[in-house]
Amino acid sequence: MNWRKLRTFLLTVLVLCLIPATRYYQIDVPLLQFLKGSHHVDPVSLHLSGEFVESNLGTEQDSDGSVTVRMIAQQYLFVPHCILVPAGVPVHLRITSADAVHSLTFSGTDYAVKVLPGTISEAQLEFSRPGEYKTVCREFCGAGHYAMRSELKVVPREQFPALRAAERGNCAAQ
Ligand code: CUA
Repeated sequence: MNWRKLRTFLLTVLVLCLIPATRYYQIDVPLLQFLKGSHHVDPVSLHLSGEFVESNLGTEQDSDGSVTVRMIAQQYLFVPHCILVPAGVPVHLRITSADAVHSLTFSGTDYAVKVLPGTISEAQLEFSRPGEYKTVCREFCGAGHYAMRSELKVVPREQFPALRAAERGNCAAQ
C-alpha cells in the first residue's frame, strides 16, 4: 500500500467516524433501538389501540415516585399539547410519530429526542427546577414544521400529586 492510498483510506475512515459522532447529542439512538427490536408500533393504528391511545397519553405517576410521559408527534403538533411534570424527578419519556420524522427538543436544555414513525423512542429526562419550557420540533417535517411547538410545565414536586388526573395528563385542561 503506498502513502497516497493509505492517506485516502485514513481520510475515508475519519469521515465515516464523523457521521455517528455528530449524532451523539441525540440521547436517543433509533438505530440501536431498531437493532434491539421490541420497539415497534403501527403508526396507522396509534389512536385506535395499544399504548398510545388518547386516554394513555400525558404524564403518569410511577410507583417509585418517577413519572412516565407518553406523547405522539404528528404534523404539526405534539400530543398532548401541554405536558406537566414534577421537578427533580426522573421522567421516562416514550414517544412515537404518526407520520414523518420529528425531533422533540426542550428550549434551554440539551435534550433532543428523534421521533420516527413505527418506533417508540425512549429517553430519560429530569428538570431540576419548576418552570416553563417550549417544546420545539427540530427536524424538518413539512410545511408546518416551524410552527410545531408546544409546552412543558414543571411544577414543584410536592404539588404534583395534588393535581387532578386530567391536569396531570394534559395541562391544557388547567
Ligand atoms: Cu415536526 Cu418539524
